[in-house]
Formats: sequence, C-alpha cells, structure tokens
Amino acid sequence: MGLSQFSSRGRTNRGLAVAFCLWGLISMCCAARLSASRQKLEVQKHLNRLNKPAVKSIESPDGDVIDCVHMSHQPAFDHPFLKDHKIQMRPSYHPEGLFDENKVAANPIERSSPVKQLWHQNGKCPEGTIPVRRTKEDDILRASSIKRYGRKKRRTAPQPRSADPDLINQSGHQHAIAYVQGDKFYGAKATINVWEPKIQQPNEFSLSQLWILGGSFGEDLNSIEAGWQVSPDLYGDNNTRLFTYWTSDAYQATGCYNLLCSGFIQINSQIAMGASISPVSAFRNSQYDISILVWKDPTEGHWWMQFGNDYVLGYWPSFLFSYLAESASMIEWGGEVVNSQTGGQHTSTQMGSGHFPEEGFGKSSYFRNVQVVDSSNNLKAPKGIGTFTEQSNCYDVQLGRNGDWGQFFYYGGPGRNANCA
Ligand SMILES: *[C@@H]1O[C@H](CO)[C@@H](O)[C@H](O)[C@H]1NC(C)=O
Ligand SMILES: *[C@@H]1O[C@H](CO)[C@@H](O)[C@H](O)[C@H]1NC(C)=O
Repeated sequence: MGLSQFSSRGRTNRGLAVAFCLWGLISMCCAARLSASRQKLEVQKHLNRLNKPAVKSIESPDGDVIDCVHMSHQPAFDHPFLKDHKIQMRPSYHPEGLFDENKVAANPIERSSPVKQLWHQNGKCPEGTIPVRRTKEDDILRASSIKRYGRKKRRTAPQPRSADPDLINQSGHQHAIAYVQGDKFYGAKATINVWEPKIQQPNEFSLSQLWILGGSFGEDLNSIEAGWQVSPDLYGDNNTRLFTYWTSDAYQATGCYNLLCSGFIQINSQIAMGASISPVSAFRNSQYDISILVWKDPTEGHWWMQFGNDYVLGYWPSFLFSYLAESASMIEWGGEVVNSQTGGQHTSTQMGSGHFPEEGFGKSSYFRNVQVVDSSNNLKAPKGIGTFTEQSNCYDVQLGRNGDWGQFFYYGGPGRNANCA
C-alpha cells in the first residue's frame, strides 16, 4: 500500500496511520538486518575467492597468516585469459647493471644484514608453492566497499610537466619524486632505504616505490608499481610492507595491490607480497634498504619483478596492459602520502624517514643506484632526470650523483611543520 493511495482516500484514521508507521519501522529494521547478513555473505564469498586452499600455513609474529598455496592454484588463474596459461619459471633475459650489488654496502661503516620478511622467523613455504598473505574479514571491512578492497583511489596527479595544482589539491595525494619521460623504457631499478613512517590517520598511507608508466594520466594510464608502504587501512597495522600494484585503466576497474586480484603470476616461494619487512632503518643508526628491479622480457613481453639480488618474484603478463604491452613512456621513483587534511591542517603523516633531504644519510631516506632499462635491454643511469613535489615545505626531494651510488636522491619530510600548515 502506497502512501499516496492511503491519503487519496481522504481518511484520517489515526490507528491505521500508527499501524502503518509500525509496519514501516519493522520492515526497515528487517531490511537492515537482511542487508547486514547479505553483506556478511558477500564478505565470506570474497574471502573464499581470495584465500586459496593452503598446503601449509605459517603464523607471522605480526599477526599475519601466510598461506603456502600451490603455484597452480594462485589467484592469477582466476583470470579468464590465464585459464590455459603455462607458467614461465624464469625470464628469458635478465638486464645487466652498472653496479655489482654485492660490492655496494648500504652503510659505509657497518655492512647491514640482508633485509628479510618477518614471517621467515616462523617457517618456510615448500617448493612448488607461493606464500600468500591471508586476507581476514577485518581487512575487507576496513575498505570502503568489498569492491574497493585492495584497490587504489583514482589518481589525478602528478603529471610533472603539466601538473595542475587544482587536481593535486583535490586528490590529497602528495609526492616527492624523481622521474624521466620522453623515451621508451623497458624497466627500472633502484635500491630503496626502508623506514617506518608515522601515519596520522588510518585512511592515510605513506609509500616509497618505483612507477613504470604508459599512456596518460586520464582514463587509460598503465602502471606497474613496487616498493614498501605503511597503510593502516589496507593491512590493519603500521608495519612497513613490501607491495606491488598494477592498473591498466588509471586505477578504475583493473588492477590491485599484491595478489588481491588476478593478474600477477608468482613463482617465488620465499617472498610474500604485502608481508612485513624487517628490519627497518633507525635514525642516526643502522640503515637498511631493498632493491627492486622491474623489467620487460624481450621474448614474451611479460614484466618481471626481482626483489633483492636473489628473489625473482614472478611477472605481470603482457596482455594485462595496452601501452605497457609495448614499452613504458615514463618512470618515477620516490614517495607518496595521502593528506586527508582533517580540520583544515596539513597531515603530519611522514614520508620516507620523516626528515628532509638536507639531513642526508642516516637521517633522510634515499633511493640509490637509480637506473632504467633502455631499448637494448641494458640497465643504465637515467638521462635528463627531473624532480617533482607539490609542496616542498612538506615533503621534498634532492638529486645527487657519485661513484658508488650512481644516480641517487634523498626525499621525504615530516608533513605538517612551521612551513607546512
Ligand atoms: C592547495 O590549496 C591551498 C588552499 O586551497 C593553496 O593555498 C595551495 O597553494 C594549493 N596547493 C597547490 C600545490 O596549488
Ligand atoms: C598506528 O599508529 C598510530 C599513530 O601513528 C596509532 O594511533 C595507532 O594506534 C597505530 N595502530 C596500530 C594498529 O598499531
């Protein structure tokens, strides 16, 4: 019975009106309960999709559960185009670098031990499986919706040479980056100092990464990203975690963090995407860094990723992309934070170490041995490298070059301070 029908009869029966209201309330309440249980069911379904049956599970000291999933049962194979895909167990080509990683110590005084993942303390995944960070119900409930879980908000910035300040302000993302563009790139490498920046609000994040980009920042940006991040909303804590991201439509319908959608094919049994990195650097104390190489296999066209010197993680199949199926047109390295600006003030979320580039080694965060893969598939120092930051009083970037570190830069900052309100 509709309200218009009720009043059209011209009756003013109070009892009927009260009954009608009650019925309305009850049905609203039932609807709410129904939708709550429907949501629970949806979350459960999504968890079942993401969490594949495990051969073995390892509890990490940080509360994560790492599932060792048979390689052929990994999330990638939910992708319709990958149903009959034959996993490539190694790249056909590995680009040669300018630097012998084993000779370059992170800290000239005290050689640091290799950076590991925290869960390694409690076990290993067997050969033939891959370690997958298990998604928990809470992980999904923290996302704005089931559909948005594991995805980035749409990016409107930066496009360094034509940066539109209005767009940058609107998106609330802030960067301090180095970049090259205007050539064809087939990969990038860098060794990234690892820190644990403080995050002011759970819906903000701080990350340090490299970007392999193709297309424009409008509708169809292709992007492959890898580095470390602190993201309370995504992971439920403030730990520094290894992550990857990809999209082929400017963060709209395709792509995700880590293995949270089908796409990336992992072959490595030792490194888990999204797992905590340990140890991290301390101010005026031991420094730790991770090296990341992403390159395009010239034979198959897939984009491979290597972590450190020893771990080839796997690859993004070429068909996931449009522009990147060919080559990248821009590479970026550096930091990004979200400035949610509660109460009209700039966030105090830190980038890098939370200290400005001027402070230098042991205090400010760095990227060293920054290289690109050129059209002859060699690693080389990038030519014509530029820098970009929205508000250098909040987060800044400073280039440098020397023999051991090649092209390097310091970046980051504290966010809110006397010159950044
Ligand atoms: C962002 O907006 C604020 C105030 O609306 C303005 O003062 C600031 O200059 C803008 N930032 C950029 C990078 O244009
Ligand atoms: C993360 O850090 C913020 C402050 O930076 C703190 O308020 C919050 O409780 C921390 N969250 C966890 C899960 O430790």
